[in-house]
Amino acid sequence: MKIIVVGQGAMGLLWYHHLATSNVTTSLSMLTSTQNASLNADYDFVDNQGVSFQGNVNYANNEHIKVADVILLCVKSFQIKSVLQEISKYLQNNTNIILGHNGMGTLAELPKEFISKHNIYALLTTHGSLRNAPLSITHTGIGVTDIGLVSGDVEIAEQKTLVSVLNTAFPKVTLHKSIIIKQWLKLAVNCVINPLTALHNIDNGQINNDIFTTKIEEILTEFVAVAKCEGVLLNAAELTKTVHEVAKATAKNCSSMRCDILANRKTEINYINGYIHKLGLKHSIATPENTKLLQAIFKKEKDHSAGTNNK
Ligand code: PAF
Repeated sequence: MKIIVVGQGAMGLLWYHHLATSNVTTSLSMLTSTQNASLNADYDFVDNQGVSFQGNVNYANNEHIKVADVILLCVKSFQIKSVLQEISKYLQNNTNIILGHNGMGTLAELPKEFISKHNIYALLTTHGSLRNAPLSITHTGIGVTDIGLVSGDVEIAEQKTLVSVLNTAFPKVTLHKSIIIKQWLKLAVNCVINPLTALHNIDNGQINNDIFTTKIEEILTEFVAVAKCEGVLLNAAELTKTVHEVAKATAKNCSSMRCDILANRKTEINYINGYIHKLGLKHSIATPENTKLLQAIFKKEKDHSAGTNNK
C-alpha cells in the first residue's frame, strides 16, 4: 500500500514513524507545506517509555501523489480544503483520503466533484503526542484510533484491508461501520476542554474543578440540542461524564487549542465551538455559550498575534 502522510506536526510524525518502522507500506512519504531541499530530513521520535529513535523523512513529490492509495491528513481542520485542492489534480480516482483532525465540518467544505471521486474516512485518536521542535516529537500517551468511512462506496473487505495495515503499524485501530456518534462525542470533549483550557491557560485536568461545572453543563446542553436537530441523539449527563473522564486521563496535558494560543498559531475553534454556533444558526437554536467561547478564542488569537507583532 502506498501511503502519504500530510503534515509533520505531532500527529503526522507519530503516524509517519509507526508506518516507517513497521514495513507495512510499499511506499511511504510525507507531504508538508514547508518541505524543501535544504530542510533537514531527519526526525526524532521519543516513545512513551523515553526511548529515542532517529529516522529519515522521505518527502513526497507529484509522482508519489499520482500513485498514492492513501492520503492520511494530519493537518489542522482549516488546512484540509486547501491541501486537497492543491493535490487533487494528481490523485487517481478512488484514493482513500483519511481526515485526522479535531472538529467537524471539513467534509462539507470540499467540492462535490472531489467527494464523488474519492473514499473519505474520518480518523479519531486518543494518542498523546507532543511536538518538541520541528521534526521532533514525544509519544506522551498511548491511546487508540477509531476510523470510519464518511463518504464513498467501498466494499467492507477493502475497508478492512486498509484498517489492518494501519493497525499493524500503530495498534490499536478499530474500523467502525458508522463513526458519526464517535465524531460527536469527540467534538463534545473538544467543545469543553479546548476553549476552557486555552482561555484560562490551564492543564486539561483542571477542567474538573467545580468552578467549571455550570459552564460545562451550559455548553453541553446547547451541544445536545444542536446534535438532535442533526439527527444525533446524545445525553448531556453522559457527555459530561465523558468530558470529566478525558480531562482526568489527560490531566497533565496541554490541549491542542491551548498549545496553539501559546504558540501564536491559528486555532481550530471554527470547527469546534464554531461548528455548534453555525448549526445553531442553521436550526434557529440559540447557542450563547458556544458562541461566546468562539468569540473569546478569536479575541485571544488576535491579542496574541498583535502582542507578538509589537515585540
Ligand atoms: O485537542 C486536544 O488536545 C485533544 O483532543 C483533547 C482530547 C482535548 C485532549 O487534550
